[in-house]
Amino acid sequence: MATLRRKKVVPREIVSPFCRGGIFLFSEVNMVRIENVSKTFVQTDRENLHALVDVSLEIEKNSIFGIIGMSGAGKSTLLRALVGLEKVDCGRIYVDGVEITSLRGAELRNYLKNVGVVFQGYNLLYQRNAERNIAFPLEISCWDKKRIKARVEYLLEVTGLKGKEKAYPAQLSGGQKQRVAIARALALNPKLLLLDEITSALDPKTTKQILKLLLEIKDTFEVTMILITHEIGVVASVCDEVAVLDYGRVVERGRAKEVLENPRSEITRMLLGKGGLDA
Ligand SMILES: Nc1ncnc2c1ncn2[C@@H]1O[C@H](COP(=O)(O)OP(=O)(O)O)[C@@H](O)[C@H]1O
Ligand SMILES: [Mg+2]
Repeated sequence: MATLRRKKVVPREIVSPFCRGGIFLFSEVNMVRIENVSKTFVQTDRENLHALVDVSLEIEKNSIFGIIGMSGAGKSTLLRALVGLEKVDCGRIYVDGVEITSLRGAELRNYLKNVGVVFQGYNLLYQRNAERNIAFPLEISCWDKKRIKARVEYLLEVTGLKGKEKAYPAQLSGGQKQRVAIARALALNPKLLLLDEITSALDPKTTKQILKLLLEIKDTFEVTMILITHEIGVVASVCDEVAVLDYGRVVERGRAKEVLENPRSEITRMLLGKGGLDA
């Protein structure tokens, strides 16, 4: 018989046994600085789950930074922390010099205007066509109609969606839906674009096209991209730098080419074995 159990309350300071202090030095070249971030999920019926363990990373402005790891490594938890959806137990995250881990309410909403997010599942509004999906964040930000029209036209052009503006998500292929999601994420000209497994549901050919689009975006916009994936080929194709996460820990990081050519951790070798470098 199922029994209802009260949630166990665990004092915040003892949740993550990995919390400790750190010294912060901000550098102009970095868009993101993650400093000693830990996050533990308290589980009443089994051992606590350490999703992020003392994670520290610096991410250069206008680069594509890959975060790779197996399923459950903590990648999406880190992404959620970057958009304030996950409160970390300790540590700090700075974006463009601003500490975002303590932002709340209007300050958090203001920060989020500078952040675009794209997920594997597109998260499109299915009752809106492509152009109205892309227009959505602009409408919410009260742009006037003329400006919205011009911006949407530009984004349709950049993301290769010309001719598909009136199509509804149900009439678009996976790759086209992901293009709409990317265009929408770029609408407000974000400084930071977070991409969580955006090619994982796509076939290899479409994946290549989407990765090519990311490189074009890198050349066209002033935007720093964090690309979360479990596919090593994706990292090899577009990332400048990479961090390998395993059970919440950064086990390896560096220039993508160097890490992939000379992997030092067991998990990187395993990911290389699984994915190859030809994606
Ligand atoms: N809200 C939550 N409550 C409990 N455990 C969670 C929660 N969110 C994530 N987890 C666990 O934390 C670990 C990391 O999850 P996640 O960040 O989603 O991994 P990834 O994106 O790398 O696959 C997983 O073991 C997952 O089950
Ligand atoms: Mg995930």
